[in-house]
Amino acid sequence: MKNYLSINDIDSLPNWVDEAIALKKDPYQFKEMGKHKTICLLFFNNSLRTRLSTQKAAMHMGMEVMVMNFGSEGWALEYEDGTVMDQGNSEHIKEAAKVVSQYCDIIAIRAFAKLKDRTKDEAEEVLNGFTKYASIPVVNMESSIAHPLQALADAITITESNTKPKPKVVLSWAPHPKALPHAVANSFIEMIKKQNVEFTITHPKGYELNPSITKGCAIEYDQNKALENADFVYVKNWSSYSDYGKVLSQDSHWMMTQAKLGSAKFMHCLPVRRNVVVEDAVLDGGQSLVLEQANNRTFAAQIVLKKILEHSN
Ligand code: CP
Repeated sequence: MKNYLSINDIDSLPNWVDEAIALKKDPYQFKEMGKHKTICLLFFNNSLRTRLSTQKAAMHMGMEVMVMNFGSEGWALEYEDGTVMDQGNSEHIKEAAKVVSQYCDIIAIRAFAKLKDRTKDEAEEVLNGFTKYASIPVVNMESSIAHPLQALADAITITESNTKPKPKVVLSWAPHPKALPHAVANSFIEMIKKQNVEFTITHPKGYELNPSITKGCAIEYDQNKALENADFVYVKNWSSYSDYGKVLSQDSHWMMTQAKLGSAKFMHCLPVRRNVVVEDAVLDGGQSLVLEQANNRTFAAQIVLKKILEHSN
């Protein structure tokens, strides 16, 4: 595998999950593989888990790590070809990507959707710009439309916690005061469609996700009905896709509560707003998997780095 840009770059999800679980038992077993190799993590947006877990994963693989908050510390980049650069942008993606490629062996990039222009967000100009002009592998640390490291960590977490041959998994929208991107939900759906599960998505009307991603998924507008007999409940806010980037509802009835959760396991990618998205009792209770998910981010990133290093060695 050269790049890890989406969950579809995984050739066998069950095999990767098994390998990640094996890495977790002995994280430094491949520390020679990354010796004298460097990964550069470029952040155009904030992070806690992605930044530290990817750094940790690289350290497990014996790699050197460089981190740059590109969004606040780098030159403003131009992505269009043939532009007369007499406005705000100081450096073209062509030079930036080629320069970074000389300093390291893998580039990892976080660049969120801006939620103003759907066509522009879906063009993924930052991720695709680096992928086009870099001469080294690129890892997606959350782009406009995908968060495949999170989805891989979620697959590991579900595998570790599952006790049934075909569990019921529910993805539930939850309220949030800010407009949030669709990336986590998109990649979770793409990942769960590859699993042997019964899967339902629930959200208020107007919050339908990209139909090319939800194709074939059951969608239930009654949250209580969707949650019946659930084994895993993944809660996430996202803004409207059809009325792009808009907050159409903050209806607190959609907040996840212990009563609604029943006996299901609770999942969320974090960060999460307590008592807005989910009540304290769920996060503080024994059915929450959020810390396991965050821990598995390290091993999701590590299996991705291992696959790339194997390919490039
Ligand atoms: N879940 C996740 O990507 O967390 P961070 O935004 O803190 O990296």
